[in-house]
Amino acid sequence: MSLATLRQWRLPLLLVLLGLLPIVASLYRIAVLTGTDPASVTNPDELRFFAMPISILLHVIFGVAFLVLGAVQFMPKLRIGTQSLHKKIGYIAALSGVIFSLVGTYMVFTYPPHSGANIAIDVGRVILGSLLPLFIVLGIRAATRRNFTAHRAWMIRAYAIAASSGVQSYLVAIAMVLNGSFDVALADRMLLVGWAVTLVITEWIIARPRLKKSAQPA
Ligand code: HEM
Repeated sequence: MSLATLRQWRLPLLLVLLGLLPIVASLYRIAVLTGTDPASVTNPDELRFFAMPISILLHVIFGVAFLVLGAVQFMPKLRIGTQSLHKKIGYIAALSGVIFSLVGTYMVFTYPPHSGANIAIDVGRVILGSLLPLFIVLGIRAATRRNFTAHRAWMIRAYAIAASSGVQSYLVAIAMVLNGSFDVALADRMLLVGWAVTLVITEWIIARPRLKKSAQPA
């Protein structure tokens, strides 16, 4: 593999690594739901998923698809040509994003609350789960109008909402190691911090080319 090809893959690989924990959790959830006899499950938090498996399955399958395909979309080489791979993969990624986030929002209202449920997390999920499809629609509209600066910004924002689940998982893992044991309140705080950190970094990344340009001498 040449150095140039490696460079093309660097950002997508980093993004998949960022989303690795939610991806693994999703594959685990699919394996458990499809391979376990519900009669053997006693944990009420687990039983909620067996009682309504379709929503969680749609959520995790399309969530993984969005995290992986969305990451691939950051490869510059894919954008070459009018019938580019970027365009073809983009439609599948966009549909996956809309499905997983709307189903996630629907789950907030339809699943019995988790034993450690937190209203702030639920409100955050509803807000971000509704914003993600809106950002995708705005991103597609910008692309059809050939406004690729706006297209880039809206799609980065949409991807960041999904990627924040990865940031949250790493923060929860680090906090638990430092704390020495699992603590629901601490984990919830890490989820909120994860959203805030991701959204601030995202806006910084989006503004960066403009900042660089305005810093150049006239
Ligand atoms: C818009 C962003 C998201 C929203 C609104 C959302 C919403 C939800 C909700 C409401 C639940 C059920 C929580 C519970 O009551 O226990 C859930 C669980 C889950 N979500 Fe998401 N989610 C989002 C992003 C993601 C992403 C990107 C992934 C990764 C592909 C993901 C994977 C999972 C998994 C694996 C579970 C099951 C957790 C478990 O096994 O206990 N979610 N999500």
